[in-house]
Amino acid sequence: MDTEPQSLSLDNPLYWELKYQAGQTGWDKGAPSPALVEALQILPNPQRVLVPGCGAGHDVRYLASLKIEAVGIDFAPSAIEKAKKLSQYPLENYVLADIFSLPKEFYSSFDWVWEHTCFCAIPPEKRTDYVLSMKNALKEKGFFLGIFFLDTGEPGEPPPYCFDLSEIDHHFDPYFQLEAEWLPFSCYEGREGEEIVRLYQKRSP
Ligand SMILES: C[S@@+](CC[C@H](N)C(=O)[O-])C[C@H]1O[C@@H](n2cnc3c(N)ncnc32)[C@H](O)[C@@H]1O
Repeated sequence: MDTEPQSLSLDNPLYWELKYQAGQTGWDKGAPSPALVEALQILPNPQRVLVPGCGAGHDVRYLASLKIEAVGIDFAPSAIEKAKKLSQYPLENYVLADIFSLPKEFYSSFDWVWEHTCFCAIPPEKRTDYVLSMKNALKEKGFFLGIFFLDTGEPGEPPPYCFDLSEIDHHFDPYFQLEAEWLPFSCYEGREGEEIVRLYQKRSP
């Protein structure tokens, strides 16, 4: 295929599909997010978790290894194919879908959303749509737990699209209550000081 990912918008699944086909997946560390591992040692564990933009499914697999039902969605066919190939646990599920048009059966059906490198991968003008979509997937009083890249001030081509905390506040505050935030103790090599974890609870309608 001649198409260059660089000429495509990031909300076009082909952009990501071509990255997976070319093996240009620098975000894939081959292991679950250390911040997720930490959070699951501290917080009461959920029963059912949605992982948007799950890629090869390392976080989904880790959740399922703890006997938590986990559903990863991604709109790049090669990501879902890879995740399914690596699958090890009965409670590990993958769906090829766009996070902006979730299957109806996903509505109000998750205790948690776990966000990791999906929010920073969508065009900034779609951030409110993202927050609404995740809110719709959560049960009443469900939790949104996410690790966010902070704006390091370094110029560079997105992704990731970075942001400061006021930007996250702006999008989440109307729909979610901030319960806690912390700097992760451990992180992937090279991401030291670049990330923050936030725990939100869905507001009542
Ligand atoms: C930077 S990668 C991160 C993948 C994974 N979270 C990880 O850390 O290994 C972003 C992922 O989000 C997916 N993605 C981006 N926009 C999406 C959308 N609208 N619907 C579903 N998946 C999306 C891409 O296909 C890609 O797999």
